[in-house]
Amino acid sequence: MQIKNVCIIGGGLMGRQIALNTAIYDYQVTVFDANGAVLEDLAAWEDKYLAGRIAKGRMTEEQVEGIRSRFRICTSLEEAAKDADLVIEAIVERRDIKSAVFKQLDAIVRPDTILTTNSSRMAASMFKDDISHPERLANLHYFNPALVMKLVEVVQGEHCATETAQALYDFAANTGKTPIWLKKEVDGFVTNRILQAIKQEARWLVENGYCTPQDVDIACEKGLNHPMGPFRLEDLAGIDLTFDIMQRKLEETGEKPVGYDLVKSYYDKGYYGKKTGRGFYEYE
Ligand code: NAI
Repeated sequence: MQIKNVCIIGGGLMGRQIALNTAIYDYQVTVFDANGAVLEDLAAWEDKYLAGRIAKGRMTEEQVEGIRSRFRICTSLEEAAKDADLVIEAIVERRDIKSAVFKQLDAIVRPDTILTTNSSRMAASMFKDDISHPERLANLHYFNPALVMKLVEVVQGEHCATETAQALYDFAANTGKTPIWLKKEVDGFVTNRILQAIKQEARWLVENGYCTPQDVDIACEKGLNHPMGPFRLEDLAGIDLTFDIMQRKLEETGEKPVGYDLVKSYYDKGYYGKKTGRGFYEYE
């Protein structure tokens, strides 16, 4: 199927960048957000971003004019989605809210419109009962910042037609991305699973006294050429968030996740990472 019109639901951090990236690559784009203030901010952000590209000599005035003509901010879901060949949902990470949006979309879009979610954690199959054509539903997972990061994970659940996944794979490639195609749904997709495994090993090494967090980071950065070691990354993401997730896992399973005591020792001291000036590293 030919994708020309793309609708992005959610104009926050991810939605706005996915939308602009799509318009840059010649697609007609509509964006809707339930919060009017976000839409106003989005318009100002778009102006600033595009003006910056011209100032830096990365885009011409004509290119920017073209992008603007293809990029439309809408104040209703219906207006944004009614002509869409592809909808990318990038709203708040709440299952009930996403579910309600998919039900609304089902009443608006054509039967052959592809519906996707950019969710980092929720498999698209969670929403298959909210819509009439689950064979047209998949995950399309971008990375932050979506204008810059090349990877897009296309996830084809059991409900999803191969034709749909293929169309999404081609769409991602046509918008300057390097897609990968997961043939089955799995928690964390590829990237988060690999990252979690690295983090788990890193915490195990430190918790068992083999080396310091700094040693682990040096090993990953200098030996494996990772741009950032797992503890430095943890400091950026926030040790408080990591601890919350571990605490929930402990409560759900009754078992301490690997590295729980290590992370708790930092959490208890209020060392949450870069945002508090101290985590596994100290910041000015
Ligand atoms: P955000 O909080 O920046 O934006 C979410 C937007 O959804 C807000 O502007 C909010 O007004 C809007 N919204 C809430 N309910 C709505 C509704 N019913 N209809 C329309 N708009 C509604 O969140 P962010 O970070 O952009 O995340 C969005 C999605 O992208 C989430 O599913 C998240 O898991 C996923 N994601 C986030 C990444 C990140 O690094 N932040 C990376 C990859 C995926």
